[in-house]
Amino acid sequence: MSIQIQSLEQYREVYQKSVADPEGFWAEQASSFQWRKPWRQVLKWNFREPNVKWFVGGRLNITENCLDRHLETRGKQTALIWEPNDPKQKARKITYKQLYGQVCQFANALKAEGVKKGDRVCIYMPMVPELTVAVLACARIGAIHSVVFAGFSAVSLSDRIKDAECTVVLTSDFNARGVKNIPVKQVVDEALAMGCESVTKVIVQKNTGDPLKMVEGRDIWWHDVIKGKRKTCKATIVDSEDPLFILYTSGSTGKPKGVVHTQGGYMVYTEYTFRNVFQYQDGDIYWCTADVGWITGHSYIIYGPLLAGATTMMFEGVPTFPDPGRFWDVIQRHKVNIFYTAPTAIRALMAAGDQWVKGRRMPSLRVLGTVGEPINEEAWHWYNERVGKKRCPIVDTWWQTETGGIMISPLAGITPLKPCLATLPLPGIQPCLVDAAGNEIEGNDVEGMLCIKYPWPSIIRTTYGDHERCRTNYFAAFKDKYFTGDGARRDADGYYRIIGRVDDVINVSGHRIGTAEVEDAINKTPGVVESAVVGYPHDIKGQGIYAYVITGDAISDPDAFKKQILDVVTKEIGPIAKPDKIQLVPGLPKTRSGKIMRRILRKIAEGDVSNLGDISTLLNPEVVEDIKEGAGL
Ligand code: PRX
Repeated sequence: MSIQIQSLEQYREVYQKSVADPEGFWAEQASSFQWRKPWRQVLKWNFREPNVKWFVGGRLNITENCLDRHLETRGKQTALIWEPNDPKQKARKITYKQLYGQVCQFANALKAEGVKKGDRVCIYMPMVPELTVAVLACARIGAIHSVVFAGFSAVSLSDRIKDAECTVVLTSDFNARGVKNIPVKQVVDEALAMGCESVTKVIVQKNTGDPLKMVEGRDIWWHDVIKGKRKTCKATIVDSEDPLFILYTSGSTGKPKGVVHTQGGYMVYTEYTFRNVFQYQDGDIYWCTADVGWITGHSYIIYGPLLAGATTMMFEGVPTFPDPGRFWDVIQRHKVNIFYTAPTAIRALMAAGDQWVKGRRMPSLRVLGTVGEPINEEAWHWYNERVGKKRCPIVDTWWQTETGGIMISPLAGITPLKPCLATLPLPGIQPCLVDAAGNEIEGNDVEGMLCIKYPWPSIIRTTYGDHERCRTNYFAAFKDKYFTGDGARRDADGYYRIIGRVDDVINVSGHRIGTAEVEDAINKTPGVVESAVVGYPHDIKGQGIYAYVITGDAISDPDAFKKQILDVVTKEIGPIAKPDKIQLVPGLPKTRSGKIMRRILRKIAEGDVSNLGDISTLLNPEVVEDIKEGAGL
């Protein structure tokens, strides 16, 4: 096991050590894992290209560390609790021994279907236990998993399959979410009809069991492929720097990019952060409500907890089904000790009223966590008082898809808290704030753009198929620094408060959405000439999506037209990217060089036009009045 920090004093001491001797620090953390061949060198790096390698020359298999090494000591312990969408259905509990057997069996099935080390496997599945089995089975044989959130549209899925040239797609028949039964496999059919030539096989897990069309020669049932397969499978030993997975995420420009994480560093970092941030104790029941389709699910439903030998819970449903007391009911029933969720869920449940949480007895709860977006004071206090009964520390964990694991966060019960602050960097993490010119801002009580100036083991290695994009996105803005895209404040005590994105990325309910992507989708609607999308404060979602749209001919039925725009966005990206507000405008404010002045559009979307700044230099200043009027301001 890696270190587990016990006190603030020890935190400070370990932090200093991790900065003075990073390689020594990380070698110590890595040494507790099962390596098939030790590393020659802890770290090789430059942020110029970038080229970062951890535990160079080391060989391993991450699933041996998640599963095999626990069999002797905790084979009978529950590894996974699955809470189904329908509360009347019984939860499923899977022990480490059983999970090992299922992973091996499915790994053998993948091999039989021709999947080899380095092949990309797309996983488009709802939150069922087989999703975890699928992820680990890929890792077992050295295949690279690319999980796509099952709420994305066929177009998005198809783009991701093509970009990674996946050979196999793993899916389920349907996705049971609240009262809905979403035809997931049908989305795969539609995606593959858009020319994903690399795909030869689709393996379908039977979830709800409703009738389904299977494509002869391509589609196979999960229960058929595992028939007769052995429940042991020799792990494929891979290099520390071989890719483990690709996960697509939105940036400020173009299509989502495939963030690549590799084996050794990701393993060390997710286990270390899981145990330290949540102060995990042997025997704890841990529940992270994220979806495995996002990085939080990868790192803190699957890998981190299983590496630490924890009992991790997966929830198939939604927080409000059958009623807004569902989370609290599940915590009470399963005696959850550590609960990790997103501010947007807290706000939604808070808005549903206190009656849903009031009568619940949740004495098992010890640690609460949040992730994905800044939490507001009201939600923080409600979480603390109503859920944690003022006796559970809240860890506000800041990190990103690209960082692989939690970077800035309190250590539960150790770091003195301040509401809504991510507080201090974990040992091994060296954040800094820079100004627009790239100068580091020293001292406290300052604000700037958040960068990290030294590599950590689970840093992004590349963007799949386009290394230059990785360089320009993260390493080109400031010399020798990884740029996060976030703005932050360091207060008088050196605590960090994350302010939010400083680029054209909107954080909607903790999901990253690029404005360019939404604009591209809107522009595909017949009749749309141009559009501009900005974020604006939203009570539940944190940020909402506000779209300004220029149309060609006069629109006779604006409501029907807006509905059409929403349909196109749903088809191109998915329901999560649907604009909350659409305003039809005669023009967009532009600079003389043709750049859209988003600053002005943001202000109008916020409803604050008291200080729009100098608009006289615009190409078309008159359009600002029209837009203000259209917005009712
Ligand atoms: O803006 C920050 C916000 O979410 C972004 C990363 O999004 P994603 O890659 O989808 O990963 C989300 C889950 C790790 C960041 O750039 N963010 C994440 N955590 C926090 C946060 N903002 C404020 N406070 C946080 N705790």
